Amino acid sequence: MTQRKGIILAGGSGTRLYPITMGLSKQLLPIYDKPMIYYPITVLMLAQIREIAIITTPEDQDQFRRLLGDGSQWGLDFTYIVQPSPDGLAQAYLLARDFLNGAGSAMVLGDNIFFGHGLSELLTAADTKPQGGTVFGYRVADPERYGVVDFDGNGQVRAIIEKPEIPPSQYAVTGLYFLDGTAPDRAGEIRPSQRNELEITTLLETYLHQGQLTVERMGRGYAWLDTGTHGSLLDAGNFVRTLERRQGLQTGCPDEIAFDQGWIDADQLSQRAALFAKNEYGRYLAGLLKQS
Ligand code: G1P
Repeated sequence: MTQRKGIILAGGSGTRLYPITMGLSKQLLPIYDKPMIYYPITVLMLAQIREIAIITTPEDQDQFRRLLGDGSQWGLDFTYIVQPSPDGLAQAYLLARDFLNGAGSAMVLGDNIFFGHGLSELLTAADTKPQGGTVFGYRVADPERYGVVDFDGNGQVRAIIEKPEIPPSQYAVTGLYFLDGTAPDRAGEIRPSQRNELEITTLLETYLHQGQLTVERMGRGYAWLDTGTHGSLLDAGNFVRTLERRQGLQTGCPDEIAFDQGWIDADQLSQRAALFAKNEYGRYLAGLLKQS
């Protein structure tokens, strides 16, 4: 099996967060002490994925490059791809076709934040399936804002419906998609929706109809945080702050994961710690070096 590759979709115009996002990409906004995109990057890292394409708007690409570079600071390999216009999430697979080169992928939306004990096991389980797709269903109070899972009487998935007016269940499909190497071909065949977008849910349904889609429930022990409104953005930041302050542990820290995995050595971590020496993040990294 070809090694699975990662995609982070960080395009979009972020109109719901205007005026903040009029001058800055949504995925670069802070979630407490780190840029939002650090969190999806660490999700892919926990799934052991090191080759990652970052898809941005043409205007924002330079800022992402400035922040993230080529990924070598974390032992990763970033490729930057431009999304000329936001024509739907499934378009990412068309844009990433050459990058994927037949490999399976894990795509995470750049504004999705996950936290939970056992996350890496959940991701590794999805990663080991060579064929078909795996997505995650998470119970939310407002499913109508998302892709929603429709279960039949036996708990089997019957359909996935994008932003239904009357949600068939409370289970939203999170923005994390493990798909096999056929995703770009499938994305090339689906038709745009009424709002003229290549919907991820339409792509997922091609797998579903062939009995090749697994919907894993992400239980209540996980946090899947929303960053789509001003209030939820602040809530996400407060959540991270509360957790980090209480535990004295970082969440969404690519430097820590890279070091733990042995993708960077102590010298490299120490250089990173020096960069941030004036703040808690830097002191945390320096602390990791002392413990090692
Ligand atoms: C997108 C998808 C939706 C999914 C959601 C997760 O919606 O279309 O199916 O549930 O991401 O964040 P968006 O938030 O881009 O409108």
